[in-house]
Amino acid sequence: MTANENIEKVIDESRQGNPLALEKNKDNSRKLYIESYGCQMNFSDSEIVASILAKEGFNTTQQLEEADLVLVNTCSIREKAELTVRKRLEKFNAVKKINPGMKVGVLGCMAERLKSKFLEEEKIVDMVVGPDAYKDLPNLIQEIDGGRNAVNVILSKDETYGDVAPVRLNSNGVSAFVSITRGCDNMCTFCVVPFTRGRERSRDPQSILEEVNDLWEKGFKEITLLGQNVDSYLWYGGGLKKDFEKASEMQKATSVNFAKLLELTAKAQPKMRIRFSTSNPQDMTLDVIETMAKYVNICNYIHLPVQSGSDRILKAMNRLHTREEYFEMIDSIRKIIPDCAISQDMIAGFPTETEEDHQDTLSLMEYVKYDFGFMFAYSERPGTMAARKLDDDVPEDIKKRRLNDIINLQQRHSLFRTQQHLGKTEEVLIEGPSKKSNAHWKGRNSQNIVVVFPKENYKVGDFVNVKINECTSATLIGEAVAHSKNN
Ligand code: SAH
Ligand code: F3S
Repeated sequence: MTANENIEKVIDESRQGNPLALEKNKDNSRKLYIESYGCQMNFSDSEIVASILAKEGFNTTQQLEEADLVLVNTCSIREKAELTVRKRLEKFNAVKKINPGMKVGVLGCMAERLKSKFLEEEKIVDMVVGPDAYKDLPNLIQEIDGGRNAVNVILSKDETYGDVAPVRLNSNGVSAFVSITRGCDNMCTFCVVPFTRGRERSRDPQSILEEVNDLWEKGFKEITLLGQNVDSYLWYGGGLKKDFEKASEMQKATSVNFAKLLELTAKAQPKMRIRFSTSNPQDMTLDVIETMAKYVNICNYIHLPVQSGSDRILKAMNRLHTREEYFEMIDSIRKIIPDCAISQDMIAGFPTETEEDHQDTLSLMEYVKYDFGFMFAYSERPGTMAARKLDDDVPEDIKKRRLNDIINLQQRHSLFRTQQHLGKTEEVLIEGPSKKSNAHWKGRNSQNIVVVFPKENYKVGDFVNVKINECTSATLIGEAVAHSKNN
C-alpha cells in the first residue's frame, strides 16, 4: 500500500463522526471562503462545493480574514497556474497567524495531481480533495475538525453532480454555467486534464434541463453548457463514454448526443441565450453546426482550439485531425453560419517544433482569422505522454518569440473581425456596468464580443439592440437603439 492509499484508508476507517463538529455545524455560523483558478469548469465546480457545504451550515464570505474554512480550487494545466496557487497558500499562511482556527483545503486538479504529497509540501494545507470527491466533503471536514488531515482523491466513473443544485457564486444574475460532461478521454499528449479529471462521463439530460429551467425562473438570461469536450457528450442511461458500444439497442436508440442536447436546451427556453464550451475539432459534427443555425437563441460562437497548424505537431499532440480537415470544418461553419465567431487555443513551442511548424501555425491563423484566442507557451506537465516521451527541447526564448508572433497576429485578426461589426445593429445582453465608465453598460453580442454603450434607461439582464459605432481589437462601442424583440 502506498502512503496515499494508507492515508485514504485511515480516513475511511475513522469516519465515525465527530459530535463536536456536528454541533458546531448546526448553528449555521461557519464561514466559507472559496477561491477558484483555471478553467470555467473549476468555477462551476466551486458552485457545487458551495452548495454541498451550505447544507453543512457554511455560508460563503468574501472576507478571507473571517473565514473558518478556506478552499482553493486549483488548476494544473501549466506550471504557472500551480505557482500562482502556491503563492496564494503563502498568503493564507499569513492570515492563519491572525486567525489560527482557520482550516485550509485544496480542491481540483492540483489536489488530484499531488494527492497527499500536498500535505507534506504545504504545511498550511489540512485537506486535499479531488474533483470527483466533493460529496465526501462533509466527512472530510469532520476529520479536520477532529484535528486530523483529510484526503480524498478517488476518481469516479459516474459522478456528474447532476443532483446538486449549484449555489451561484459572484453571479451577475444574468449568465451562468451548466456543466454537462466531466473528465476527458482525448489524451492530448501535452494535457494533464485526463489524469486530474478522469474518464469522460455525461450528465443526465433531464437534470441539465431542470437546471436550465430553474435558472430561467430565477431571472438568468444566458447559459454556457460546459465540458472539457462538449461535442463528445453522450447520454445513454449513464456510464462511461467508452462503454457506449456495450449498451443495449434500446439505450442506443434513445441516446442523446450533443446536437440533440443543444436542441433540447434551445427548445426548453427559447428566449434564453445558449452557449457552449469547449469544442474539440475531432469530435465536432455537422449536426451541431446545423442545430446552431436552426435556433436563434444558440449563440453564433464556437471556441474551437487547434493548438498548432502543423500536421506533424498535431500528430505528436495526439490531436486526431489534420490541418486540412480543420479547414474543412471551418469552411462548413462559415457556409452554414456566415457570421459565426470562432476562437482558438494555441500552444507555442511544443517539443520538436521547428520554425517551419511555427510558420504553419501562422498560416493556419491567416486562413481562419480567428475572432479571438487563448495562447500559451508549452509547459511540460509531469506524467503526460509528452513529458514521458519527448524532450522539452524548444528553448524558452524561442517559445516566447513564437508565442509573441502568434499573439501579435491574433491581435490583428481580432481587430479585423471587430471592424466587421461597425455600422451594424446587434442584439446585446446587458451583464453589468462597464469597468471603465459607470455611465456605460457592458454586455456581449451573439459572437461573444464585449459591447459597451451609454446606460440610458436600460437595465442589467435586458436584451438591447445596439448600433456599433467604434471598435478596438477587443471591444465594440455603440449606442442603444431599442429593446430587442427577445425582451
Ligand atoms: N478541452 C479543454 C482544454 C483544456 S486546457 C477546455 O475545455 O478548454 C485549455 C488549453 O490550455 C488547451 O486548449 C491548451 O491550449 C492549453 N494547454 C493545455 N495543456 C498545456 C500545456 N501543457 N502547456 C501549454 N498549454 C497547455
Ligand atoms: Fe486536454 Fe485535449 Fe481533453 S486539451 S482536456 S486532453 S481535449
